[in-house]
Amino acid sequence: MRSHLLNDTTAERYRRTVTEGVERVAAKLATTDRPFTGVTVDALSPSIERIDLDKPLHDTAAVLDELEDVYLRDAIYFHHPRYLAHLNCPVVIPAVLGEAVLSAVNSSLDTWDQSAGGTLIERKLIDWTNERIGFGPSADGVFTSGGSQSNLQALLLAREEAKTDSAAKLRIFASDVSHFSVKKSAKLLGLGPDAVVSVPVDGNKRMQTVALARELERCENEGLVPMAVVATAGTTDFGSIDPLPEIAELCSQFGAWMHVDAAYGCGLLVSLKRRELLDGIERADSVTVDYHKSFFQPVSSSAVLVRDESTLRHATYHAEYLNPRRMVTERIPNQVDKSLQTTRRFDALKLWMTLRTMGADGIGQLFDEVCDLAEEGWKLLAGDPRYDVVVEPQLSTLVYRYIPEAVTDPAEIDRANLYARKALFASGDAVVAGTKVGGRHYLKFTLLNPETTADDIAAVLDLIAGHAEQYLGESLDRIAS
Ligand SMILES: Cc1ncc(COP(=O)(O)O)c(C=O)c1O
Repeated sequence: MRSHLLNDTTAERYRRTVTEGVERVAAKLATTDRPFTGVTVDALSPSIERIDLDKPLHDTAAVLDELEDVYLRDAIYFHHPRYLAHLNCPVVIPAVLGEAVLSAVNSSLDTWDQSAGGTLIERKLIDWTNERIGFGPSADGVFTSGGSQSNLQALLLAREEAKTDSAAKLRIFASDVSHFSVKKSAKLLGLGPDAVVSVPVDGNKRMQTVALARELERCENEGLVPMAVVATAGTTDFGSIDPLPEIAELCSQFGAWMHVDAAYGCGLLVSLKRRELLDGIERADSVTVDYHKSFFQPVSSSAVLVRDESTLRHATYHAEYLNPRRMVTERIPNQVDKSLQTTRRFDALKLWMTLRTMGADGIGQLFDEVCDLAEEGWKLLAGDPRYDVVVEPQLSTLVYRYIPEAVTDPAEIDRANLYARKALFASGDAVVAGTKVGGRHYLKFTLLNPETTADDIAAVLDLIAGHAEQYLGESLDRIAS
């Protein structure tokens, strides 16, 4: 069994085994002609259920053969140009190399004595991101597992900085279309059920600052405490960017912590054409960035950044066995002092390899390409009488709904759109997402793949229309019979 341990004596086995796996995946990627096979839960479950985990195969080739059946064949492939659903990007090769290195060396970024150079690399990437944001020299931050955790940590710091001991009095302001992790964080932080105040959005799905000002005033008048305003720079559904400068102004007026959730919009930090969309982000107290959304990084890769490094002390605990207080005076950099996690992956390495290979402009160019594509897609949708499209994109999502000429019942149109999404998924020809707008069912493209073309978008719209028409035809038949 020791031959499976990765060490000095097994380096050759490691090389062979990993190469075998890489070759399988490479062959798979090269021959995947659809983003999904359309397999159902019922069809796939038995092949996994029948595997006896107490009966190992003892052979890499056999394990990989089995993996083909239980995972690789039917996985959802984000690199395929017709995967258009959620905020999953195709990944860049330097980052995948980073992933291979980081799992083999297996540093843990909690303490210097489990990581050494990894710690310094992470810190340099945090500094680099802070410079891109426009924060000053007192800024800091830490890598996290994802946007939800980054938002949670930011709001934890905001709660600790708030000027009250009464959690019941604290209020967080976020737009109607902000990410649900804001509400989840409020719950985890022990705030009351009314803690998150939803601020309405304008026709472009951006927070209405007049409404925010009104809510902040109301909060003050009621003797409550405005703990934080969460401005979203790239909403999940619409990619809309809240008016950051105006929100910053209101935050300073009302003494509220300004958090910018740029989980999606962070790609603009390296954009060559659209960086100004983030103007005002430098006035935030904290920022969430998800490199695994718009920097073409594998899951997981995220960070929470803060303008004032001292606020990270709210996440600091010292343990004698790990990061005793004396290490602070000895200036030993223990990232656990800033993190909600203890043992933590060296995710930063992926971004490091990416920047050292492609450079920031290379990533920015790819992100600009998907935003350009979204503009093209919007024109297609806006000019297509079969579809209603919600907002002109600031980033790279398109929310739209098939509107058949002959049908006026909105509930029937809902059903046709829901059916079309399901049927498309089952066909595996393309994967799109869905959401609700004004209580009605819409479909969504999240465009994060520079390989997707306007022709792909047009073809998928035709497929959707075909499925929706089929549903409506069958539904008419059902009524007639
Ligand atoms: C705006 C926004 N914030 C936060 C998140 C949560 O990020 P994660 O899925 O990495 O936890 C998302 C996810 O889609 C998001 O769109």
